[in-house]
Amino acid sequence: MVNDGKAAPIIHAALKRLEYRGYDSVGEATVYDGRLLIKKDQGKIDDVHKRLDLDDLPGKMGIGHTRWATHGAPSMVNSHPHTDCSNKIAVVHNGIIENFNDLKDELTDKGHVFVSRTDTEVIPHLIEENMKSGLNFVESVRDSVKRLSGSYALVAIHVDEPNKIVFARNASPLVVGISETGLYASSDIPTLLPLTKKIIEVYNGEMVILSEKGVEIRRIEDWSPIKRESSIITWTVEMAQKQGFPHFMLKEIHEQPKCLEDTLRLQQRYIDLLTTFLDRSKEIYLLACGTSYHSCLAASYMFSNLCNLPTLPVIASEFIEQYGEAVNIDSTILAVSQSGETADVLHAIEQARFKAATILGLTNAIGSTLTRVSRAYICQQSGPEIGVAASKTFTSQLMVLSQIALRLAKVRGKISQEKIDYLEEKMKDIPNMVDKIILNQEKKVKGIVEKYKNTKCFYFLGRGINTATAFEGRLKLLEISYIPSIAYPAGESKHGAISLVEKGFPVIFVCPQDGTRKALIGNIMEMKARGASIITIIDENDKEIKALSDEYVDIPSDVPELLSPIPYVVPLQLFAYYMAVEKGCNPDMPRNLAKSVTVL
Ligand code: G6P
Repeated sequence: MVNDGKAAPIIHAALKRLEYRGYDSVGEATVYDGRLLIKKDQGKIDDVHKRLDLDDLPGKMGIGHTRWATHGAPSMVNSHPHTDCSNKIAVVHNGIIENFNDLKDELTDKGHVFVSRTDTEVIPHLIEENMKSGLNFVESVRDSVKRLSGSYALVAIHVDEPNKIVFARNASPLVVGISETGLYASSDIPTLLPLTKKIIEVYNGEMVILSEKGVEIRRIEDWSPIKRESSIITWTVEMAQKQGFPHFMLKEIHEQPKCLEDTLRLQQRYIDLLTTFLDRSKEIYLLACGTSYHSCLAASYMFSNLCNLPTLPVIASEFIEQYGEAVNIDSTILAVSQSGETADVLHAIEQARFKAATILGLTNAIGSTLTRVSRAYICQQSGPEIGVAASKTFTSQLMVLSQIALRLAKVRGKISQEKIDYLEEKMKDIPNMVDKIILNQEKKVKGIVEKYKNTKCFYFLGRGINTATAFEGRLKLLEISYIPSIAYPAGESKHGAISLVEKGFPVIFVCPQDGTRKALIGNIMEMKARGASIITIIDENDKEIKALSDEYVDIPSDVPELLSPIPYVVPLQLFAYYMAVEKGCNPDMPRNLAKSVTVL
């Protein structure tokens, strides 16, 4: 909502910044001259803009949406905004309305006509129905929202209220931005940064009315007014842009040394706090999805080894089935989520809270839902990550988790002072080491990609803590270059997946100089005996394994085993990135994936 000029170009530019959330369709609506004007279609924002000119809509107030399909395939009719029968109300929505089928039946019985297959479309019709019963627009939105179950950050406008935008939030992120020239709201902060740095967070169960009067926040349940101060966001717009790199992902891979340094600073009192909670628990569940789960997998080796504390890494969507009954008042959940909004993580946490477990969080998004449901939380401090495939997230999370594990080991008195000193010293070297790897090995990785670009499948193997590194390398490759790939703990590979190996089949080994090395050499020999091409990520001084390798990427020597996934994953990130580029895929926007998955 702007004081002067047109809202549409501002919404269009903001949607571009939000595109990482989803990009199968896009749409905008404005109110102008007593009419609701809508442009929307299936496709990425740039393509739809070329066809429809999204900047062209007149009006000082409007809404927009970039979609990642949940209900109803990507198509023009399923694109947001959605409208009511009279075409007076428009709504955009992020999340899922779980009871939309019941509501749709009820509204259809009352004569409403639905055009899309989305869950969202019930919302404008509900509002319309409520208005028929005499409520004004804002009251109708409020009463409609009360009938919704599920997750939503939703926005509604009405032609007869050209100076009002109404928002509601439950379990999907929403923030408001305030500036001299207008009022804004979005699903995330970076979207608003070029417009304003003055932000107000909106919490679950709240509605916001933006109007000429300013920002009004109300609790949906009892309509009580909420006073909340704005805060100033220090992220710069530049931080959220590509900074000269062809893709966000490459920029984010290159940012890792700096992020790791940031992660080593300023964490101490939060680390202390988390450690206090962890020390009290009988067992720790490390809960996450995707890349964050791989961080948890690696961290479970750190916690078990350094602290002698049973630590279970769990894929969040499996948590309730696997441990829902076992979790109890003596359990601690350390939930790890870059976005802090991943629905699978939040859903699992709900169950754990119900069983009185302690919830702790590690996230990149302060103000996210995870930070609000956690007893204590810590930030991974890596700044906005726009590439859908996480890179700096993995290394930053591991740097935080290793510091927590080390602090807990100290508190519990489980390892010697000598080992603590050694690990603390080595931790400080890691940012510099990652810098060197990028500087010295990027070209080499590109060369390996060039050689293997037509390969149909890769096999990633690691042992011990670097099983997680192998899993993460595999995830990166298949996410962005669509090459079906397999990852295993190397010892397990002989129990099945080895059957795939034939002459020239490429096997990528993660091989630091550690306790697993001897066994790993055995696994390399097994693969070589079957004709595999051996690619190793290897300690620069390991002549023996180099001699067994067809290709290798050097990692500086003397990395402690428990920190090794941080430097060893970097060549695998670069490998996935350059493979995607080589294959003509956009690494920042892999098909069917979204940065933050806010549905179950
Ligand atoms: C999605 C993303 C992944 C990410 C995962 C967990 O699947 O595509 O890159 O690792 O969500 O996200 P979180 O924000 O919870 O770390």
